[in-house]
Amino acid sequence: MKRLVSENIETLRPYTPGKPIEETERELGITNIIKLASNENSLGPSKKALKAIKNALKNLHLYPDANCYYLKEKLAEFHNIHPDQLILGNGSNDIIDLSVRTFCSPGDEVITSEMSFIMFYISAQAQNCVQKIVKMKNYTFDLDAIKAEITDRTKMIYIANPNNPTGTYNTKKEIDRFIKSIPEDIVLGIDEAYYEYVTARDYPFDMIGYIKERPNTIVMRTFSKIYGLAGVRIGYGITDAKLANYMNRVRQPFNISTLAQVAAMAALDDKAHVRKSRKMNREGMEYLTKELTTLGFTVIPSQANFLLIDLHKDATELYEKVLRLGVIVRPMKGFNMPTGIRVTVGTMEENKRFIDALKQSL
Ligand SMILES: Cc1ncc(COP(=O)(O)O)c(C=O)c1O
Repeated sequence: MKRLVSENIETLRPYTPGKPIEETERELGITNIIKLASNENSLGPSKKALKAIKNALKNLHLYPDANCYYLKEKLAEFHNIHPDQLILGNGSNDIIDLSVRTFCSPGDEVITSEMSFIMFYISAQAQNCVQKIVKMKNYTFDLDAIKAEITDRTKMIYIANPNNPTGTYNTKKEIDRFIKSIPEDIVLGIDEAYYEYVTARDYPFDMIGYIKERPNTIVMRTFSKIYGLAGVRIGYGITDAKLANYMNRVRQPFNISTLAQVAAMAALDDKAHVRKSRKMNREGMEYLTKELTTLGFTVIPSQANFLLIDLHKDATELYEKVLRLGVIVRPMKGFNMPTGIRVTVGTMEENKRFIDALKQSL
């Protein structure tokens, strides 16, 4: 009998999302649960985006604009690039997956770090690539170790900067040196899902500028984080027009819904919402770091909208207890860090509720 699926699909572990609120309420029989488990923006979407969604509802019987013309024009102006350099996705997850499916064939080598965003591992395994997963250095991507793994068969390198779930980042100097030292024919995916939260001065804020010198580079961004639109699913890649064109051939024609297109355009215009979200994040991060450190936990310094915490003992019990008190966070067992939890920085009220639940659970 023929095998139904190949080995890479048989052994593929599906993505485990943060526990949804409704499911947890049903399971535990409690209400008023807060979710700090998926790095969403607790301030919610921009009011401008909500208005745009409402206005677009009447046209939902029509297919979306498959080419996302207006959104591409707007993003091109925003980033000072040509619209042909854009590839839009159903979340930046879609861009990660599209990049692997477009540029990697079964047997090609891909390199990334341990403790990084799971979607890259899933896409690479689904495509039957040979994955080289490099150890981290001090919770950060070890670029020298990645470079050391490169062979003639290496097709793609994926770097999340800042990284999820560690919140750490690689500096401009490190990235600069790395890019200059790797072969030009490797497709380099730089995932900047948390770009808008970064405050570190030595962060490479200008990755898009590298594309001119090094066309085989894809910079990935999303509307799911600071823009508060995780539920409508929209993200994008900026790259050389030639690469965008190839990815566009693989892309599903209507992968960006009408609501996602109008919401993203309106959200881009709402600079005040982005500023407010950034401020909330900085204040929340300071508060959480102080409280958690006082409790004796180690907090990994983060440039994103979440914190990785080392509890120095198995986190399962504490995670369960905090959950029963109505706060969903993310255990890190699946990342080989059984003593870790990741918490999203929420509103100050949510942050306080998490700390209270934690204190009660200790
Ligand atoms: C590093 C990183 N990249 C990409 C994503 C995917 O975001 P989305 O598909 O919602 O754009 C996430 C989501 O948590 C992430 O942490």
